Amino acid sequence: MTDSDIVKKINELRKIRNAVILAHNYVAGEVQDVADFVGDSLELSIKAAATQAPVIVFCGVSFMAETAKLLAPRSTVLLPEVSAGCPMADMASAEAVRNLRKLHPDAVFVAYVNTTAAVKAEVDICCTSANAEKIVAAIPEDKEIVFLPDQNLGGNVMKNLNRKMILFPGYCPTHHRIEPAQLEAMRAQYPNAPIVVHPECPVEVTSLADAALSTGGMLKFVRESGAKQIIIGTESGIIHRLRKENPDKEFIALAPAPRCSNMKKISLTSVLKSLETMQTPVELPQALIERARLPIDRMLEKSK
Ligand code: 13P
Ligand code: SF4
Repeated sequence: MTDSDIVKKINELRKIRNAVILAHNYVAGEVQDVADFVGDSLELSIKAAATQAPVIVFCGVSFMAETAKLLAPRSTVLLPEVSAGCPMADMASAEAVRNLRKLHPDAVFVAYVNTTAAVKAEVDICCTSANAEKIVAAIPEDKEIVFLPDQNLGGNVMKNLNRKMILFPGYCPTHHRIEPAQLEAMRAQYPNAPIVVHPECPVEVTSLADAALSTGGMLKFVRESGAKQIIIGTESGIIHRLRKENPDKEFIALAPAPRCSNMKKISLTSVLKSLETMQTPVELPQALIERARLPIDRMLEKSK
């Protein structure tokens, strides 16, 4: 089957199933193109919370599909490729969070949305890379904060807010391996091009960039920038959307281009199969849904 045959079948089936297709900015371009909505983690959470669709096909990784399920518990949320996980989310277990609670009983626990539902059930509030600073800044100054699982997002928030937090030692393998030398090489080659990176990059890297933004923030930065060439320091799937929305600008990925193999597991074929077979639904116990939803609701309330 050609891609256009697959897209035709997806379009037939999405109507029959009354399904909405949500996709993260990192998934393959052809998958973004069949989605009803493409966005960053916060935007996708807001969409999931608002949808009335009985079926959501979530093109992203498992913690994102779980979050959609928490926010749309009556919908069937399908993850087209069940093995599409997030190694960073898997670094923090619910047990590790409970143990940290014993050590810091009075602390506010802030979890990046890149966590499992079981971990969300143990924390006070969630954040995404788009609102992490706002969420942390709203916590009273005298409160101790434990931030998990991303030591880099946490480190960037600490630096920007000049506020101390206890950081869980997790990291995103895709962004953690980006090195200052990669930015320096780009700066030397394209001295007039702004460099935008993701705050999952280490502080030594974000310090060299012109901006450290969520994927949604990067799309806005690019839209508003007068620069004709922009260096992109995040998973290179976002370049598809950047090019599509800004045909007059040139986007240059760091070398080597950052890649998240899990995001790339979602293909047109797996989206079609998911609609045909209704696989694989996110299934969470009701009690877990109720507990894990609370910190996300608190985040959405504070992000308004
Ligand atoms: P955004 O929320 O910025 O889209 O990031 C999600 C993610 O997984 C980054 O690696
Ligand atoms: Fe997880 Fe990193 Fe992939 Fe985002 S890019 S899904 S944080 S491994």
